[in-house]
Amino acid sequence: MSNRGNFSGRLGFILAAAGSAVGLGNIWRFPYLAGQNGGAAFLFIYMVFIFLLCFPVMVGEIAIGRKVGSDAYGSYRTLGGKRWGFLGIFGILAGIFILSFYNVVAGWAFGYFLEISFGDLLNHQDFGAFFGSYVNDVSDNLWFSLGFMVITAVIVSQGVQKGIEAANKIMMPSLYVILICLIVYSLTLPNAMAGVKFYLIPDLSEIKAQTIFDALRQAFFSLSLGMGALITYGSYVKKDQKIVSSAAIISAADTMVAFLSGLMIFPLVFSAGQSPTEGPPLVFMILPQIFHDMGPILGRIVGGSFFLLLCFAALTSTVSLLEVPAAFLVDQKKFPRKPVVWALALLVFILGLPSMVSQGMAGFEFLNKLPFYQGRDFLTFVSDMCDISLTVGGCLMCIFITYRWKIENMNTELKIGDDTYMGSLTQRYISFAIQYIGPILLSILSVLVIIDKFFGIEKVF
Ligand code: TRP
Repeated sequence: MSNRGNFSGRLGFILAAAGSAVGLGNIWRFPYLAGQNGGAAFLFIYMVFIFLLCFPVMVGEIAIGRKVGSDAYGSYRTLGGKRWGFLGIFGILAGIFILSFYNVVAGWAFGYFLEISFGDLLNHQDFGAFFGSYVNDVSDNLWFSLGFMVITAVIVSQGVQKGIEAANKIMMPSLYVILICLIVYSLTLPNAMAGVKFYLIPDLSEIKAQTIFDALRQAFFSLSLGMGALITYGSYVKKDQKIVSSAAIISAADTMVAFLSGLMIFPLVFSAGQSPTEGPPLVFMILPQIFHDMGPILGRIVGGSFFLLLCFAALTSTVSLLEVPAAFLVDQKKFPRKPVVWALALLVFILGLPSMVSQGMAGFEFLNKLPFYQGRDFLTFVSDMCDISLTVGGCLMCIFITYRWKIENMNTELKIGDDTYMGSLTQRYISFAIQYIGPILLSILSVLVIIDKFFGIEKVF
């Protein structure tokens, strides 16, 4: 076990795990989901889920990983026997599929960054139409997403400390700096306050079933829960470190970036007189229009910074997604890290190709309108299936801890390095959440989300 690698210390782990959490989910998906679900109302429910459920689940995942010191499969298997090993495999597969479409979107962000900063992307007139043709221009996207995957693989192949930790130590602080500069800028724009109001003053009548589902799956996705990413990162944490307070910092850092992204984007959107309810195109269609209107120089700087921010966020996440299957092959099959990482990167890239061409490219229309999936496209399909597998995975993890590993054993692990944990309110709360809230809430919501995705919940109830 000694040559698996470790994070050098607490800061390294926290930055890497926060890097995994902070990603396209925070800057691309959170604002558009919030925009579609009534702004502040969504933010409110999202926060409730983070506190009530996601933070305890994160603690549980890290505890499993650190206890065993192995990849997701090895950890479940060691603690639960062969039958539970499947849960690790399920997570590893989910990670591979998440990365497959995630890297496509990251490739768009990478392309936008390069072409805004160094090309003439902002000279276009209609950014809605431009995005449509952009995502179909596979000759470019192929290279951007391949490039992104290569950068990811270079980092992961360097190992835990020299690769993952080092990259996060540069990118995470830069990300915060860029984000804060952009917020300061956007808050000074005319009519910015209308955006702030929309975002911060909840209208509780906006809360629908859809709001609750979206908030839950977004919370799981954003914190990288439910598929063993944090088991894997947790396995590189040393025994003298406090898990619970690290998890609190990671959850807070992630929630903060999601919150701040909204605070950056809504003032921009409102000051430009645009609608916040655009959905997935918000970041790729609406924002470029706004950067365009800023004029050639300012637009290049602000727009370029924004997409650089998006790339940093995405990269620290793709790194964690690739590490999960890599750790599995390194730990279980004793393969050397470098070839494993490159082979996986290639596999994931190929698996992502259907998602890439599913955005309406000629010849692949069948992937753009899936008959069995309410006419949605393949990328959305994979992304939705992955979301579901996260809540199902999280639910099974709570059941695993409660009935197999046992809550006392989890608490014993959490006590190590943390003298005040036993008997504390936090301990009782985490134990309660994992034994009751997790299994009950997650199983109900997972079933409802599946019904919703395939049939549309409003039509069923
Ligand atoms: N959390 C990241 C985001 O918000 C995505 C991500 C990285 C992820 N690793 C993960 C999601 C593991 C689920 C599981 O963009």
